[in-house]
Amino acid sequence: MSASPEDFERAAQLRRELEVHEHAYYVLDAPTVPDAEYDRLFRELDALERRHPELLVPDSPTRRVGGAPVPGLVPVRHAVPMLSIRSETRTETDTASGGVIAFDTRVRNALELGPDAPPVEYLGELKFDGLAISLRYENGMLVRAATRGDGYTGEDVTHSVRTIRQIPLRLAGRPPALIEVRGEIYMRRDAFERLNARQSKTGGKVFVNPRNAAAGAVRQLDARIAAQRPLSFFAYGFGEIGESGGWNMPATQGQMLDALDAFGIPVCEHRVVSSGPEGLIAFHDRIAAMRDSLPYDIDGVVYKVNRFDLQRRLGFVTREPRWAVAHKYPAQEEITELVDIEIQVGRTGALTPVARLKPVFVGGVTVTNATLHNEEEIQRKGLLIGDQVIVRRAGDVIPQIVAPVVERRNGSERPFVMPHTCPVCGSHAEKQPDEAVTRCSGGLFCAAQRKQALLHFAGRRAMDIEGLGDKLVDQLVDGGIVKTPADLYRLGLVKLANLPRMADKSAANLLAAIEKSRHTTLARFIFALGIRNVGEATAKELARHFGSLDALIDADVERLQQVPDVGPIVAHSIAGFFAEMHNREVIEQLRAAGVHWDEGAPAVAADGAASGKTFVLTGALPTMSRDDAKALIESHGGKVSGSVSKKTDYVVAGAEAGSKLAKAQELGVAILDEDGLRRLLEQPA
Ligand code: IVH
Repeated sequence: MSASPEDFERAAQLRRELEVHEHAYYVLDAPTVPDAEYDRLFRELDALERRHPELLVPDSPTRRVGGAPVPGLVPVRHAVPMLSIRSETRTETDTASGGVIAFDTRVRNALELGPDAPPVEYLGELKFDGLAISLRYENGMLVRAATRGDGYTGEDVTHSVRTIRQIPLRLAGRPPALIEVRGEIYMRRDAFERLNARQSKTGGKVFVNPRNAAAGAVRQLDARIAAQRPLSFFAYGFGEIGESGGWNMPATQGQMLDALDAFGIPVCEHRVVSSGPEGLIAFHDRIAAMRDSLPYDIDGVVYKVNRFDLQRRLGFVTREPRWAVAHKYPAQEEITELVDIEIQVGRTGALTPVARLKPVFVGGVTVTNATLHNEEEIQRKGLLIGDQVIVRRAGDVIPQIVAPVVERRNGSERPFVMPHTCPVCGSHAEKQPDEAVTRCSGGLFCAAQRKQALLHFAGRRAMDIEGLGDKLVDQLVDGGIVKTPADLYRLGLVKLANLPRMADKSAANLLAAIEKSRHTTLARFIFALGIRNVGEATAKELARHFGSLDALIDADVERLQQVPDVGPIVAHSIAGFFAEMHNREVIEQLRAAGVHWDEGAPAVAADGAASGKTFVLTGALPTMSRDDAKALIESHGGKVSGSVSKKTDYVVAGAEAGSKLAKAQELGVAILDEDGLRRLLEQPA
């Protein structure tokens, strides 16, 4: 059935509404309706167009993505060339203002203005760091988007530019029959960070900076990929303009930006009109101060003679207009040498590689080092010590090494090797399974972890030393008075009372609290050691299971895993902790200092008859639930498995046991009832 006049009317109305919402959302950053409402309208239009393809128009909001990838990018000749702007930097002139004054002087001379002539009016704009684009609108419709290329010939990128929501497919108001809008496509910093995080997770290409990411997206042959890269746009000028129709051609750059804004095209809010050059200097400084907090990269500001008639009189020198100049800020990316990679040890024992760089001025500060997070990041970026590397510091973020400049290698570079010992305390360092970081195992002993270890040790649920908080630990450690927890038990009143801001009374209270903590429980003591992955609950299980600290220290990874809730990772942490001689020494010192705890009988006959045996439970036991039976077997060192095989040692069968019992009989596996199980577990080995 063909579309009715009502369908045509409804489709047109939906498109109008969607355009209004898109403009509010993407350009004005002030959404007018909830996302769900937008989606509903969008789906309605999409369904209508699918039902009646004759309703489709090229500027429909549903047409942003569509069509097969283009086979290649086709050259486009620019009717009005896309030129570049001369730039002045601080290095070319002695002062920030020097460039501006010189520019004004050049302009006044060229316009033959005498010293008494009134000041020239300028417009100050931002210099966006993205890629230049020319958008051609015919009868208000976007018909072509082209890159700058060499300024005279660019590439047709209409398919990918159509996916940029900030760029209208149809201009609002009454635009001239032909207008080419010139501006910059860019990627916001937050979008760039998200994109790179996603790329890195999926093993895709990680981009050096937002500009490269934006350029890559625009030059994609497949618009569906471009559509997934969130791009933005600011207009700053125009190219060819045809018959004006009813439209009044603006007389100044400022009015032009307002006109583009009225067409629904994004223009940047940061601009200034200045009579003479002084206002431009203030603009330059104001923008410099806010550069880091802008959501996108800029590389400077641009000053333009505001009046178009004056611009025409000034004209061009070679490829640069005489009426504009760019005033650049210090670069946010520089190349420098990666002198070395050193290891820093954090409060939790994490070993972090840190890049030592040949000092380089980037993003307004001198950078001498940058974190590399972990070994994998170094591999992923392919960094070698001695490389020339790209360092980026944009916004207020910490400096980052982006990539090596591989072409500059000379063969003297060497790979980084993660150390196997902690550079601070010499303890064994290891990468935990499932973790990217390498950690020092000398928890109690390592100077880097000292404060953290002491605070944990003294915690309420550990040794419960009241009054030993952050500030005091800082004082004790920084003053070299306490190095390990054992030192706490050797503190005297005089030493404590001599600390700054420490009253006699509080010193005495603290000593009393320390004294009180000398006697504790095994569970608390185990928890206090601060073994990685051993929380309060696990510490209690360990205490119950092993009964004594020595039994725990002697347990191997397999034995440790017989404790409820202790899996391979936790078992590994515990074994690693006690394997470190430094930690054992501290424990010995604590014992020697009189720290003691109640040791119970081990809850486990560790070498009982069930030890190392595999059990299968089937049917209902008379007095025990299946969970109880499992816990009982495990606490005696046995393992419980779900299916019967030749490796099964015992099948424990209750009422209504089924196929597992039959299988056990078939394989000749020993069969027990509940009583039999109890008797077996009571037996010594
Ligand atoms: S005007 C004839 N204004 O800078 C002058 N360009 O060197 C045409 N750019 O690649 C350019 N922000 O893409 C102008 N506010 C701005 C700009 C700007 C960034 C880029 C432009 C071009 C380069 C010119």
